[in-house]
Amino acid sequence: MRIDIITVLPELLTSPFEASILKRAIDKGLVEVQLHNLRDYSTGSYNQVDDYQFGGGAGMVLMIEPIDKCISKLMAERDYDEIIYLTPDGKTLNQQTANELSLKKNIIMLCGHYKGVDQRVRDKFITREISIGDYVLSGGELAAAVVADSIIRLLPGVLNDETSALTDTFQDNLLAPPVYTRPSSYKGMDVPKVLLSGNFPEIEKWREAQALKRTEERRPDLL
Ligand code: ADE
Repeated sequence: MRIDIITVLPELLTSPFEASILKRAIDKGLVEVQLHNLRDYSTGSYNQVDDYQFGGGAGMVLMIEPIDKCISKLMAERDYDEIIYLTPDGKTLNQQTANELSLKKNIIMLCGHYKGVDQRVRDKFITREISIGDYVLSGGELAAAVVADSIIRLLPGVLNDETSALTDTFQDNLLAPPVYTRPSSYKGMDVPKVLLSGNFPEIEKWREAQALKRTEERRPDLL
């Protein structure tokens, strides 16, 4: 899989891909992530990529021309399955969307800034608009990192058995059950006995019941 991220702030997006699981996935060649600085595609003077909005009002809008130049260059190089715009008025990201996107080959993510992008960019190029939640970030970069992380960890070979995505919260629309590690007793707080029993059918039953209980208590909307 290849992910191209178009941004005015590439600095904000370097470290997420230089650590831990995402770095390992890139090093193993399971995913390629390329950052594109929108300013490299500016046309006017001063590397301008944004301008005042027509009709007046506070806030700058990312211009269509640099975005068109960048996306068109990428599209001439390969086919893209999705061109995603990160925006608070998009569809809220969930596990199902992450699962779907993890099956794609090439994806572009466009990060908004200021008041967002010229609507004509959205009309002409964007195939999917994603929000990571009902709050406003100062730009789409952190949202792009979140979406990329949620996708990349699902790619075959990225996670090992230990970190398997199969038992994640949300993978079966249930929250994950509680987990414990050593010591089995700490300052009078004991690990549930069943987990120490070695009886795996019983352990599995306990986990399922706990997952259901947790979901009923915290996220009844998922049931
Ligand atoms: N850009 C600004 N806020 C955002 C959000 N909540 N999700 C995605 N992109 C955004």
